[in-house]
Amino acid sequence: MGATYLKWAACLAMAAASSSALLHAQPSTAPATVGPQASGDADGQFVEATCSTCHPIAQVRAKHKSAADWAATVDKMIGLGAQITSEEDRDRVIAWLAAHQGTQ
Ligand code: HEC
Repeated sequence: MGATYLKWAACLAMAAASSSALLHAQPSTAPATVGPQASGDADGQFVEATCSTCHPIAQVRAKHKSAADWAATVDKMIGLGAQITSEEDRDRVIAWLAAHQGTQ
């Protein structure tokens, strides 16, 4: 139990450290990054930040899948190394994708 908590804490600390490193790498005058593909909401921005490190976000935005298929895709991406470190983040990424990139 204690060891599990420590692992989570280390994980979260690493995620916090790497995202602040990224923020610091940007010029201080730059506005919050909102690319042409970005959705205005926080979950959309989280998806864009998390899912555009290995391939362009356009590759994600080009796909339309059911919630179940997105869940499978997100799990595959986590297996490949996507930085989704909590159940909540996994759920909100899947929910956002299903809502915005669902099957028509
Ligand atoms: C650690 C690197 C990495 C990250 C981060 C990543 N991907 Fe991927 N993604 C890949 C690789 C490698 C492929 C091509 C291999 C494949 O299709 O299995 C791919 C392919 C895809 C594809 C096309 C294939 C398919 O299954 O439809 C989609 C859609 C996708 N990624 C979505 C996402 C989403 C959504 C996220 C954020 C949750 C994400 N990716 C984050 C590495 C990554």
